[in-house]
Amino acid sequence: MFQAIHETVEYIKRKTEQFQPEVGIILGTGLGVLVKEIEVSFSLMYPNIPNFPISTLEFHSGKLIFGTLNGKKVVAMQGRLHYYEGYSMQQITFPVRVMKALGIQYLFVSNAAGSLNPDIKKGDLMVINDHINLQLESPLRGRNDADMGPRFPDMSEPYSRKLIEKAMEIVTEEGITCHQGVYVSVTGPNLETKAEYKYLRIIGGDAVGMSTVPEVIVATHMNLPVFAISVITDEGFGDVLHPVSLDQILETARVAEPQMTKILSQLISKL
Ligand code: HPA
Repeated sequence: MFQAIHETVEYIKRKTEQFQPEVGIILGTGLGVLVKEIEVSFSLMYPNIPNFPISTLEFHSGKLIFGTLNGKKVVAMQGRLHYYEGYSMQQITFPVRVMKALGIQYLFVSNAAGSLNPDIKKGDLMVINDHINLQLESPLRGRNDADMGPRFPDMSEPYSRKLIEKAMEIVTEEGITCHQGVYVSVTGPNLETKAEYKYLRIIGGDAVGMSTVPEVIVATHMNLPVFAISVITDEGFGDVLHPVSLDQILETARVAEPQMTKILSQLISKL
């Protein structure tokens, strides 16, 4: 893997005139508005980047964007890779390894998630302060490269407490409603049954989604501080479970997105 990362990093450096990002950003399903705030210097299509996972139809337009956001040099993934698309855990997390090798010091992640907690409603935001990995396979399975990180990484603080505190200050200043909670990752692509939502709440989850945790585990392996936030797009609690469609999820994400973008954008400017 070291060789593949090296090759990809060399290609990117060449194509971006040695651009050195300080912050990496992974944008979730339907959450691309932040990209519009980036003053773009370079943009590379996933299929042209050596060793990047070959895009499925959904992310035919996947792009790695290099530019400046509020005075900070950033690299943003527009189009994230999901396990349910058929990629391996190593493939999904490969871009995180590459962004770290390019020099990022922070990783910011957004996603769309279903609420398990009756206090957290559709359209709300939730800063992730911990997670439960139900994707079951770790992206760190296999031989460990000690140059990248330890065999048994500590997971006592995968989501930077300092970044969460700063984010909550911004939330208060801006008068944004934003919860904190535990994100449960599942493989998908099917959504959960009523019994499964209930189970996920019982084991300690506040929200459930199909992404984020693999990237966070790999970031933690490399000692990279993470900030992650969910847009709640549907509700999995209560006696009646309403059917949800991707269109509804995208529409809710679109409506809630500006507030989330404000938090991410201000937090990045305050790093
Ligand atoms: N379950 C799993 N993943 C999701 C959900 C959900 O309810 N909403 C958005 N992503």
